[in-house]
Amino acid sequence: MEHRIITTELHNEDAELEPRLRPTSFEGYIGQAKAKANMQVYIEAAKMRGEPLDHVLLYGPPGLGKTTLSNIIANQMGVRIKTTSGPVIERQGDIAAILNELNHGDVLFIDEIHRMSRVVEEVMYPAMEDYAIDILIGKGAGAKSIRLDLPRFTLIGATTRIGMLTAPLRDRFGVVMRLEPYGVPELTKILTRSAGVLGIEIEEGGAAEIARRSRGTPRIANRLLKRVRDFAQVRFAGRISRDTASESLDILEVDRMGLDTIDRNMLHAIMHKFAGGPVGLDTLAASIGEEPETIEDVYEPYLLQLGFIARTPRGRVATGLCYSHFGLELEHDKQEG
Ligand code: ADE
Repeated sequence: MEHRIITTELHNEDAELEPRLRPTSFEGYIGQAKAKANMQVYIEAAKMRGEPLDHVLLYGPPGLGKTTLSNIIANQMGVRIKTTSGPVIERQGDIAAILNELNHGDVLFIDEIHRMSRVVEEVMYPAMEDYAIDILIGKGAGAKSIRLDLPRFTLIGATTRIGMLTAPLRDRFGVVMRLEPYGVPELTKILTRSAGVLGIEIEEGGAAEIARRSRGTPRIANRLLKRVRDFAQVRFAGRISRDTASESLDILEVDRMGLDTIDRNMLHAIMHKFAGGPVGLDTLAASIGEEPETIEDVYEPYLLQLGFIARTPRGRVATGLCYSHFGLELEHDKQEG
């Protein structure tokens, strides 16, 4: 579950700014060099053959631009995109209706595809492979199955948990791409571009400071930019310098590594309530009042990337780096877990 995003973006006025911050072509799309270069080849080749693009699966932590990339792919292919998400397609009839409305070459984007139900998934197999679906008409002994032909379409699936996809579904994607966390230089560029779009005055140092605290994630960077802008406007005469950014982020309780209150609660729980770990995911989640899935999808990837926690067969442990971040020392016997 994308906790941060749902609670911080969909329910306030910032949500309206989001489309403006999304690049609509590869030219404006910063970072993800490998995925981008390969994707451009697949698109060009498909266009040369006059064929729709193969089905594409995009995976990686939330906020890295899976939706943005899907929209760019549709733009570059010159086709329409229909967007939906795994949990909202409940019945076979729902997916049949969606598929039936597609035109030749259209992109169907299914976000959180790992949360699609099994019955819907079964409709997708022949839809993806043979561009046809079987619909059951009537009930009981008189029921008849009829085959409905579909236009050739491109399915783009996005997921934060590729491990939760069944093998038959995963195997039906011709292109599988992992999106990686962004580096500070890339996030700095994204922030500079966003500031331009939003009419915010920002210095290079200010953008870099926000970038450093954005956990490798453009969505977080853009959100922090808007909050820092508020402080800059009210308290610091408008312009975002490195100092303005730094002070604002301190007030927002986003620390120098980009950790927020929930990250800190979680790390403190491992270090202090569970003596450094190992502690099981469910126990840890319950102790800080979060869902296990939220921890796995949203919080953990960055903490693992920083090397602040490690996963062991018996659960999560806090590492020496984590202790030193908080000015503490790790006792030797604790790390073995
Ligand atoms: N906004 C969000 N993701 C982006 C990206 N990869 N490039 C440019 N702007 C973005």
